[in-house]
Amino acid sequence: MWSRGVAHRVSDWPALVAEIGGAPCGLLAYRPAPPECAILVIDAEPRHQGIGSALIAAVVEAAKTAGCARLWLVTTNDNVDALRFYQRRGFALAAVHRGQIDEARKHKPSIPRDGRYGIPIRDEIELERLL
Ligand SMILES: CC(C)(COP(=O)(O)OP(=O)(O)OC[C@H]1O[C@@H](n2cnc3c(N)ncnc32)[C@H](O)[C@@H]1OP(=O)(O)O)[C@@H](O)C(=O)NCCC(=O)NCCS
Repeated sequence: MWSRGVAHRVSDWPALVAEIGGAPCGLLAYRPAPPECAILVIDAEPRHQGIGSALIAAVVEAAKTAGCARLWLVTTNDNVDALRFYQRRGFALAAVHRGQIDEARKHKPSIPRDGRYGIPIRDEIELERLL
């Protein structure tokens, strides 16, 4: 995945897996680089069952244990549901990287142009939670 103009191979980094009854239902991959820790990927299925919140709580503890004082991530400008999710879980807007997705698309043409709710995907929005 692309973040802040850098390509990351998600499988190179640690991940937390959520399970229900032994079956995987959520994944959070993160890149600890003290004093910061980046969330690279978070996905939950089924949604709205508390899985994403549990993954955030777990990565907060993992980041603290790794000696990180700042947890951060980027999401795309169309992902208004994720913006709600993060802000209700202690994250604050840290920066808007205008045109960052347009740049990433030059390297990875499979990134779609239209996103959620028909919003054109252009920018990365950076959020942070101080630990
Ligand atoms: C963003 C994402 C990871 C959130 O995961 P989730 O498991 O749906 O999140 P949660 O269930 O913990 O919280 C979502 C909502 O469900 C509610 N909820 C939590 N537990 C609940 C329960 N037991 N019953 C009913 N609602 C519940 C929460 O209150 C929350 O609502 P809120 O934002 O108004 O507080 C998930 O929606 C997802 O995978 N999205 C697609 C991928 C994506 O966009 N990832 C982020 C890219 S940066």
